[in-house]
Amino acid sequence: MKRRDFLAASGAVFAGSLLVNPLQASGFAAPKRKLAMVGTGSRGLSFWGRRIIQQYGDIIEFVGLCDINPGRLETGRKALGISCPVFTDFGELLRKAKPDLLIVTTVDATHDEFIIKGMEAGCDVLTEKPMTTDEFKCQAILDAEKKTGKKLIVGFNYRYGTQFTRLKELLAEKRVGDITSVDFHWYLNTYHGADYFRRWHGHRNKGGTLLCHKASHHFDLLNWWIDSDPVEVVAHGSLEHYGKNNPFRGTKCRGCEHKEKCKFYYDITRNREYMELYVANEKHDGYIRDNCLWRESIDIFDKMAVQIKYANNVQVSYSLTTYSPFEGMSIAFNGKTGRIDSWEGLPWRQKEMANQAELHAREMSQQAERSERYDEIYVSDNFGKSELVKVPQMRAGHGGGDARLQDKIFRNPDLADPLKHAAGSRDGAMSVLIGVAARKSIDEKRIVRIEELTTLKPHPTRGV
Ligand SMILES: NC(=O)c1ccc[n+]([C@@H]2O[C@H](COP(=O)([O-])OP(=O)(O)OC[C@H]3O[C@@H](n4cnc5c(N)ncnc54)[C@H](O)[C@@H]3O)[C@@H](O)[C@H]2O)c1
Repeated sequence: MKRRDFLAASGAVFAGSLLVNPLQASGFAAPKRKLAMVGTGSRGLSFWGRRIIQQYGDIIEFVGLCDINPGRLETGRKALGISCPVFTDFGELLRKAKPDLLIVTTVDATHDEFIIKGMEAGCDVLTEKPMTTDEFKCQAILDAEKKTGKKLIVGFNYRYGTQFTRLKELLAEKRVGDITSVDFHWYLNTYHGADYFRRWHGHRNKGGTLLCHKASHHFDLLNWWIDSDPVEVVAHGSLEHYGKNNPFRGTKCRGCEHKEKCKFYYDITRNREYMELYVANEKHDGYIRDNCLWRESIDIFDKMAVQIKYANNVQVSYSLTTYSPFEGMSIAFNGKTGRIDSWEGLPWRQKEMANQAELHAREMSQQAERSERYDEIYVSDNFGKSELVKVPQMRAGHGGGDARLQDKIFRNPDLADPLKHAAGSRDGAMSVLIGVAARKSIDEKRIVRIEELTTLKPHPTRGV
């Protein structure tokens, strides 16, 4: 029996949704999907690289790695324990390695180049968020996808978290009627928040400001929960804490003369992985992982407030703070018959105080850790009672969302997706366009309409 006939007989549509590849189960050697990755930094290696090799090695193989930094590229290949070819020239990777699927995990403002060239070379592409950092690059990506007929997946892992999924279910079943407004506030602590200002994220030409880099996660959640497209954005933002807002500064934390008095002193020498990946390879490109967060060149905002109006008339009040004593969020959905509240990490609500540095490490870790704890969602009916919905917590990589996202992409791509967790280019665009519009609104002091940015037209029910 030929491979194609076997798939037809065994139900080809289910082939991707079975936990065991049917060809392998039958003794056929199914060809592995050929994967390449550009960007061998910490996200590329830890979340995509290492995890793919561990979890999906039976169906996927790396055929090439690419990074602009030859040292980090080689360190990365060794860390993954693979022998595939490495390239500092992306064109050469495409020509020689001929991947089926390309993963893009580079600096945000460079995603567009790799997404477009990858699709033009015949690859499907999986990009890290944010899809890109401005409206022109966004349009170019949408055009390239249309022209090439290739598929772009955006790695929105937050959608897959248990707490956020439960919220989506409650909203989809209209537990508190139609939603009319949402209050969403996100707090980054003085470890996680500060870390963005040490690196390229502090420069808008690299990360598009945290309105794109970080908040695109949150804007995507809002678009998905509200199930409508954004139409208008107005925002405020300033840089009042980091960057130029300090009387002293150095070049980097290592050897800094202000080490004793700087509350943000960060000792990278205690992190062996970062020493090998970043410090040992500074000589190639000058990427300083423990850069001074008081650099005067930092040109992003460290506090941001955004109002978003949706095509279905829902209005959102969103804020992002980057120097909070704790890491957390609060969200409230105001509906016609009640309200849904949820939160994460707010110390006055927690039974035990969390160590903020450990908490950040755990959040980024890929080791699944069962927890006795649960997330809380309160559903309150107008003129009625409040009900507590307990969602068991999974303390690993964004609430366990990282792992579920990868299973959907690599192991079970055809599995039914009733809550529409899977995200494509339109989702990537709509989330980043809110960030772009907010940045423009702050710069130009005006309301920005989403439809002035690209050819995408907002729909009252989230478009495809
Ligand atoms: N979804 C999530 O929760 C999540 C978490 C962390 C990071 N990310 C995303 O992953 C991406 C990588 O983040 P990171 O923390 O690993 O950053 P990083 O700085 O550690 O790694 C980026 C890598 O890209 C390489 N690079 C930069 N420009 C390049 C170019 N022109 N050509 C080839 N290589 C180039 C750098 O040398 C570096 O090795 C970012 O887009 C970030 O937004 C997502």
